[in-house]
Amino acid sequence: MLPIAQTLSDMTQTTTNASDCLNVFEYEARAKTSLAEMAYDYYSGGSWDEVTLRENCSDFSKLSIMPHMLVDLTQLDMSTELFGSKISMPLIIAPTAFHQLATADGERATARAAHRAGTIMTLSTLANCSIEEVQVAAPGPKWFQLYVYKDREVTKDLVQRAEANGYEALALTVDSPILGRREKDVRNRFCLPNNFRLGHFDTGPLANLPDDVADSGLAAYIGSLYDTSLSWKHVEWLSEITKLPILLKGILRADDAALGVKNGAAGIIVSNHGGRQLDSAPSTISVLSEVVEAVEGRVPVLLDSGIRRGTDIFKAIGLGAKAVLTGRPILWGLATNGEQGAYEVLEMLRAEFQLTMQLAGCPTLKHITPDMVRSKTPFWCK
Ligand code: FNR
Ligand code: LAC
Repeated sequence: MLPIAQTLSDMTQTTTNASDCLNVFEYEARAKTSLAEMAYDYYSGGSWDEVTLRENCSDFSKLSIMPHMLVDLTQLDMSTELFGSKISMPLIIAPTAFHQLATADGERATARAAHRAGTIMTLSTLANCSIEEVQVAAPGPKWFQLYVYKDREVTKDLVQRAEANGYEALALTVDSPILGRREKDVRNRFCLPNNFRLGHFDTGPLANLPDDVADSGLAAYIGSLYDTSLSWKHVEWLSEITKLPILLKGILRADDAALGVKNGAAGIIVSNHGGRQLDSAPSTISVLSEVVEAVEGRVPVLLDSGIRRGTDIFKAIGLGAKAVLTGRPILWGLATNGEQGAYEVLEMLRAEFQLTMQLAGCPTLKHITPDMVRSKTPFWCK
């Protein structure tokens, strides 16, 4: 476990970027010009009408920040700790698939960006680079995201390799026993270029998406290989085969979060998969408070889906998240300028969050309390 918190002066020196992009939205526009259409559609899209995808972002703007004035801000600290690793900010990298569609170095580039920014990278089961390749690409804390294959031995092998290679936690994705219907991917018959493989596997059907289906190749892969019987008994089985803390990624209900803690989860990630699974699922920020209340501080609650600004991070922390994860913004950075682009996106969000803390009168994360986030609609938070 590496203490990798940065000092404030380190942080403020790293906020300029080579791409001239001022915010995440400009990175997306830039990325769109360099990505193949099939890749851009896959990265950006959501399921069905993309209602959840839109609300993930727009619901943040339904919350106001109630700032304190006249607070001494000379000692600013946004570092935090997760499962024994100190990180420089409460923003970590969500697991997303196929980083080689964005940059030749794939997830190795992402790992290096995370390390430079002093934060955690979560490596996807569907990465192009292997658990081992990513581990040697950069030091620093990493988590492994797990999809459960029907073949328990395949699943067990992934878990054991993650543990043997020093990954510090498992994020078990619970919202995707089958894939949501992403119509753009169906139309494009989404598949990977011939020379790409799924990095954790050597050959055969596990290592490749089918490219001969009249549908999304990813949907076909998941449909044939993933375990649709995924249930609490798998959580129990996993905790028997690994010592790693298990976070449940994709929880949206208070009762499921409470059950998760009862079943041994070491953390809850409030997520709707970036609006890519069940369309019409609620935005994550709208359900965060009720999940936090149900968990009663027993394990950390994290949130992803829709984080695009430092103000979004602030609102999630205010409503009780220990940290947030970001998915697409990292892909836009990678597509724009590889490792450097992903690093710049992380530093941009850090700078925005820092400025938000300063303007709201919060020198530390502990100062960001629920009363600082006020709902413009009556029912999301008190
Ligand atoms: C994802 N996500 C995801 N989640 C997961 O558990 N395993 C995975 O392999 C992937 N792959 C993936 C690919 C792409 C292109 C996207 C956009 C997302 C979901 C991801 O971890 C996270 O929940 C969302 O990306 C969060 O939403 P934002 O930050 O993209 O709005
Ligand atoms: C996705 C899967 C891989 O969202 O999680 O595309």
